[in-house]
Amino acid sequence: MDRNTKLQNFIDATRVAIRARATDHPDMMPMADRVFSALENARTAPEPAATRSTPDNGARPPAARLPACSYFNSAMDAARAGPAVVAALSEALAEIEPDLSWTRRRGITPQDGAFYDSHANAILVGKGGLEHHDAVTIGISLLAPGMPYPRHRHPPEELYVVLTPGKWMQNDGAFVTRRSGDLVYNAPDIWHAMQATDAPLLAIWCLWSET
Ligand SMILES: [Fe+2]
Repeated sequence: MDRNTKLQNFIDATRVAIRARATDHPDMMPMADRVFSALENARTAPEPAATRSTPDNGARPPAARLPACSYFNSAMDAARAGPAVVAALSEALAEIEPDLSWTRRRGITPQDGAFYDSHANAILVGKGGLEHHDAVTIGISLLAPGMPYPRHRHPPEELYVVLTPGKWMQNDGAFVTRRSGDLVYNAPDIWHAMQATDAPLLAIWCLWSET
């Protein structure tokens, strides 16, 4: 499959940022290995029709931004000031961001108040992303300063790469500060949430869905 070079660079930089924390979080690496092995297998498969991944075929949503994207540049400035692997990942994200179709969380309406225009999500790999994959979803989330992201849960296990500092909750425990470059792993179906501090929160997330 002929994968978009900017997307490949982003995938590589995400993998490097995650593997940089392998010693701290050996328990998170099996999922990461599944995700990046699947993406590498999709890239090297000779026939797209025989893979679980397909390149951009024109069916993906057009690039689009939302009001919350006004915080993207300042979030990127903060991310670039993080660890070297996060700075490199931020550069890869900056290259591909103009291609992204930013959307709101499903079901969110203006009746949800400030959250409506204070968050934005975009999918890079997976349904609605730049490249489809049945098992892997990789996306990013952006929150305006001070904004909480709703407590939620989902069957796929999830691994976040924190790009800018923020507060994170798991299993209805206390919110704890996570710094740039930290990883957050959510086992299937556990409740979790995050909260921006006085600066925008930007994070990458990977989902693995057994198919
Ligand atoms: Fe989640």
